[in-house]
Amino acid sequence: MPSKLTSLAASALILGQVNANLNQLAQAAGKLYFGSATDNSELSDSAYVAILSNYEEFGQITPGNTQKWEYTEPTEGNFTYTEGDVITDFAEANGQILRCHNLVWYNQLPSWVTSDTWTNATLTAVMEAHIQSEVTHYKGQCYAWDVVNEALDDNSPTGYRTDVFYETMGVWYIPFAFATAAAADPDAKLYYNDYNIEYAGNKATAAVELVELIQSYGAKIDGVGLQGHFIVGETPSASTLLAQIETYAALGVEVAYTEVDVRFTSLPPTTAGLAQQAVDYGSVTSACLSSDSCVGITVWDFDDAYSWIPSTFSGEGDACLYWANLTTKPAYDTVESLLASAAGTTVPAKTSTAATGTATGTITATSTSSGAQPTQSEYGQCGGIGWTGATVCASPYTCIIMNAYYSQCL
Ligand SMILES: *[C@@H]1O[C@H](CO)[C@@H](O)[C@H](O)[C@H]1NC(C)=O
Ligand SMILES: *[C@@H]1O[C@H](CO)[C@@H](O)[C@H](O)[C@H]1NC(C)=O
Ligand SMILES: *[C@@H]1O[C@H](CO)[C@@H](O)[C@H](O)[C@H]1NC(C)=O
Repeated sequence: MPSKLTSLAASALILGQVNANLNQLAQAAGKLYFGSATDNSELSDSAYVAILSNYEEFGQITPGNTQKWEYTEPTEGNFTYTEGDVITDFAEANGQILRCHNLVWYNQLPSWVTSDTWTNATLTAVMEAHIQSEVTHYKGQCYAWDVVNEALDDNSPTGYRTDVFYETMGVWYIPFAFATAAAADPDAKLYYNDYNIEYAGNKATAAVELVELIQSYGAKIDGVGLQGHFIVGETPSASTLLAQIETYAALGVEVAYTEVDVRFTSLPPTTAGLAQQAVDYGSVTSACLSSDSCVGITVWDFDDAYSWIPSTFSGEGDACLYWANLTTKPAYDTVESLLASAAGTTVPAKTSTAATGTATGTITATSTSSGAQPTQSEYGQCGGIGWTGATVCASPYTCIIMNAYYSQCL
């Protein structure tokens, strides 16, 4: 494919990018993939595609929209996979794992589903036909399916979102959807996917019960998808995230971070804000790296130009690892360093850096304890511009420079 090589080389020259290796490092660290969501309209941007198609950077793709019900069954019984296929063909051409997304969700439904009058029996038949058709169409291509998406509602007394499926079929629709998907593609990993279930709380407890509900019906569920739409400065710590991963793992399922972004609630970000965003992305990365049950991390697109945030949360954004101009942020350096550290390697010093000003990704051989010096515990900050706290890590942890603003005990 000379044209692809040419465009890759050209973009590398233009951007001065030397480290495009998140997936390579994640795999070396024992994960299945580091991936990104994408969408059809973005695939005409050749500079963007040069990065997205690079398997060393992104080993996994999630279609952001075009496998959703409004695209795949716009009128009853009219199944159209043309747009979804564009993304799945793209992933296949690049050897990338596919997370398929999604089968049953209250949002982005065609109006015939939300406005018709259903009985339990008629809606059950419609759901069954939808899942059978779509899962069969993509059979063998999807590592995982998000079978049911966002069935929980933080504010509902039952814990369940009162959408057309819940109101018509009862909570039974959830195990039914999983059993139907399992019958259509026994090899796909079947996930429940949601947000605000990444850390302990009422919604996470409801998610645990939801997994147990599916299991109690004898239906197959393989994983819990932790969306990971976080806010700068409000992202849970690595240890909080890890504890919740282990809670799901105890149910016998794997987990993945499926839609990660860390947004600023006001723009533009400050230097300190970018440092905090790096800490937050680092917490998610560390949590996943710390558990064998976490198979991988997917960002909900990798550059700000194609982030969903500004159109959904007015005035917010800059949530991705790459700026809109396709240069990387301090958060990228942190994720890269953590993956490299877990893989037992180091990130080479960048030959071209935008902002940080000091070498990143070097691993300091800080002694683990010495005399009366204060020490920092696992995941704690141990250095960086402006840091005045402890710079020594408690044994057996090592102080690792994530970026100019942040070093962490790992
Ligand atoms: C099926 O959906 C496609 C895409 O929306 C549309 O172009 C086509 O007219 C539909 N066909 C029928 C029979 O409804
Ligand atoms: C819908 O039908 C299924 C299968 O018969 C049943 O298990 C479920 O309880 C029904 N839901 C409601 C709300 O009646
Ligand atoms: C890319 O965009 C960011 C944010 O606007 C800016 O700080 C940086 O200087 C830009 N880099 C290049 C090479 O244009």
